[in-house]
Amino acid sequence: MQGENKIITITVNSVRLTVVVVVTSAFAACGGNQSALNAAGIQSERLDYLWWLFFIICAVVYLIVIAVLIAAFVRTKKVNADAEPDLTPQPEREKRLSNIVKGAVAITVILLFVLMVVSFRTGRAINSLSQRPAPVSIKVTGHQWWWEIEYRNDDPSKNVLTANEIHIPVGQLIKLELQSNDVIHSFWLPNLHGKRDLIPNYPTAFYFEADKPGTYWGQCAEFCGYQHAKMRFRVTAESPEDFEAWITAQQQSSVQPSNDLQKRGEQIFLTTVCAQCHTIQGTPAGGKVGPNLTHIASRPYIAAGSLQNTRDHLAAWVTDAQSIKPGTKMPMNTYSQEDLSALIEYIESLK
Ligand code: CUA
Repeated sequence: MQGENKIITITVNSVRLTVVVVVTSAFAACGGNQSALNAAGIQSERLDYLWWLFFIICAVVYLIVIAVLIAAFVRTKKVNADAEPDLTPQPEREKRLSNIVKGAVAITVILLFVLMVVSFRTGRAINSLSQRPAPVSIKVTGHQWWWEIEYRNDDPSKNVLTANEIHIPVGQLIKLELQSNDVIHSFWLPNLHGKRDLIPNYPTAFYFEADKPGTYWGQCAEFCGYQHAKMRFRVTAESPEDFEAWITAQQQSSVQPSNDLQKRGEQIFLTTVCAQCHTIQGTPAGGKVGPNLTHIASRPYIAAGSLQNTRDHLAAWVTDAQSIKPGTKMPMNTYSQEDLSALIEYIESLK
């Protein structure tokens, strides 16, 4: 009876595990866009291939092991039914069993070796892009809990500073220089490249290329504190012309207020706490603690991908960021309704 229960438990657990593996893989394969199995560049294609190779080999091994395990239980039950166990030596049978074990060990070693070599070759192929000069270089700094993005120009007045929003030209080599000033973060853009840790005081870099235009979500992949889960970024891969247009627009100083409400909003921004932490190029606001807001209205999301950039979300974020992202450095702010409207009107004008 006990043996039967064991078989049932093992079978149920195996079936459960199989279902989990199949459902997870199916979701990853055809589910959300933010997936390493939805490759948009040559490097992620290699990772995609590696993932499927590992998955298929491991799945086949898993099914064989489970089949053998179930067969062993079924056979044991039959033997146990005999009253007197047969204890006479059977050298031929033992030799056969030992050969089976040796064969299984050999196959396991060969498979592990194959997986290791393929994995090693993939790593080399992914890093091979660094041999060429990159026309676009982007500096990414991880902060608790947002991403500072900088496009440097030979002319420093044309440097672009933005947050959580990366634009890249399709088909061109991109160099990403990564660094962190607080804790360890991990830059993960699954559609285009594997993870890369940002370790304080150890700047690092990697190269990648997008083959397909599109918008790809990325994520911090290393637990970095309370709001680690709300540390996302967006990468827009677009034609080189669109990319140039975007860069040129971002290089401009902020739009000047065009009506009285916006002017009042600008005054509030410059004379209350906002300017202590945020920069708006073309105004005296030069704070470096929070994201650069020179072109905040051009970004579709705020708070590192947590909220869509709408008037209501901006107002909620300005007044009570702590209830949206507890622990963030953005303080709670109290404004009269009129002042808040003016401030949001101004922020929304910063295209
Ligand atoms: Cu940054 Cu997790």
